[in-house]
Amino acid sequence: MRRHSTFLLFDFPGFKAFFFSAILLLVSCKKEVVPEVLNEDGLHDLELARPANFPAVMKQPDNRLTVQGVELGRRLFYDARLSGNNRISCASCHHQGLAFSDGLALSNQGISGKTLDRHAPVLFNLAWANQGLFWDGGAKNLESQAFGPLTSADEMHQDLYELEAELKAIPDYVSRFKQVFNSEIKSADVVKALAQFQRTLISGNSRYDQYIRQEKSALLDAEELLGMNLVKEKCGNCHAGALFTDQIFHNNGLDDHFFEAYEGIYQGHFRVSFDPEDMGKFKTPSLRNVALTAPYMHDGRFKTLEEVLDHYQSAIKISLTTDVSLFQNQGKPGIPMSAIERKAILAFLNILTDHDFINNKAQGQTN
Ligand code: HEC
Ligand code: HEC
Repeated sequence: MRRHSTFLLFDFPGFKAFFFSAILLLVSCKKEVVPEVLNEDGLHDLELARPANFPAVMKQPDNRLTVQGVELGRRLFYDARLSGNNRISCASCHHQGLAFSDGLALSNQGISGKTLDRHAPVLFNLAWANQGLFWDGGAKNLESQAFGPLTSADEMHQDLYELEAELKAIPDYVSRFKQVFNSEIKSADVVKALAQFQRTLISGNSRYDQYIRQEKSALLDAEELLGMNLVKEKCGNCHAGALFTDQIFHNNGLDDHFFEAYEGIYQGHFRVSFDPEDMGKFKTPSLRNVALTAPYMHDGRFKTLEEVLDHYQSAIKISLTTDVSLFQNQGKPGIPMSAIERKAILAFLNILTDHDFINNKAQGQTN
């Protein structure tokens, strides 16, 4: 039952307890600008703070979002004790200051020291990721995804039974898991708590957003406005809508040969769907915060945004699945851009940086 209402306070038997919890709630609400509701089990239900210009969030899986669950997830995210050698945390490869990417083309920060096959993506607006996670859609949702890095020898190399045993030896975790999941520590709940935290990583307060929402009298200059229209026109087929991604899989012409290596890692969404139409298709990444998240693409092959534009302008490779929307040059491959247009596009991409997001202490490492 929810207690947040205006029913007759004086008739209410638990008035005193209610009064004090309401005060507590007010105090805690002051910092958290998120709507929350205190429940009888002591957990605060949390609603995702959806920016007004964003679409509705996808239906959530069976993982009740609470303030306490998110806080537990935050602690786990930054805790190296989750890894086999107690040295690697999720944040080792997902840094808040880089919109939770890592600045490396391919990381070798995992326990084995072996170079990974894919570039570490940003982590934000995952509550809208309705077509699966990973560059090729190989993970269904956040409630299953984290088993990947936790157990992979080239990432955190943790045995899940050992993980449970280790966390059970930490009294603070024992009581937090008890409170959030009303049970002893289970690895599935570790992943659920991580999912809750990651779902609250919402980036929607760039200067562009403030302009769109007409807040703080934010204005864009002529070059930024030109860039905005060009991105919509030339890139918006895939980097679409308020999220700057359609969430689906495209072949954006990086390669024309998708050879079969270990687990089909270069074959894109084909690895997941086995549909030849999906050969070489990868998930459209958002353009939000892209000024912070070099290098680019699923293998981090481009060091700068200029290189990215060079690619779209004149280096599209053709294969059976190359996306038709890349043929913008009178039916020939490539996206024509004049020098002025390139400069405007770069100016626009720069105002998609959300400084509040990367500096939000409540989502950073504090413990
Ligand atoms: C050693 C580096 C490394 C560590 C440690 C790591 N990750 Fe990642 N993460 C990656 C890479 C690389 C990918 C991309 C993999 C792919 O797409 O095939 C990724 C992808 C993801 C994605 C998918 C995002 C999307 O938009 O599709 C999520 C979510 C994620 N990681 C969360 C986590 C969590 C939670 C942890 C800790 C339990 C973690 N990662 C630990 C490197 C790492
Ligand atoms: C056909 C769909 C499509 C179009 C059109 C398109 N992109 Fe992309 N873009 C993608 C896909 C898919 C990826 C990821 C490809 C990969 O890594 O294999 C991507 C990656 C990127 C990245 C790298 C982001 C990161 O986090 O690594 C940038 C930057 C980018 N595109 C900018 C643009 C710009 C600017 C335009 C317009 C000039 C554009 N894109 C047009 C589909 C598209």
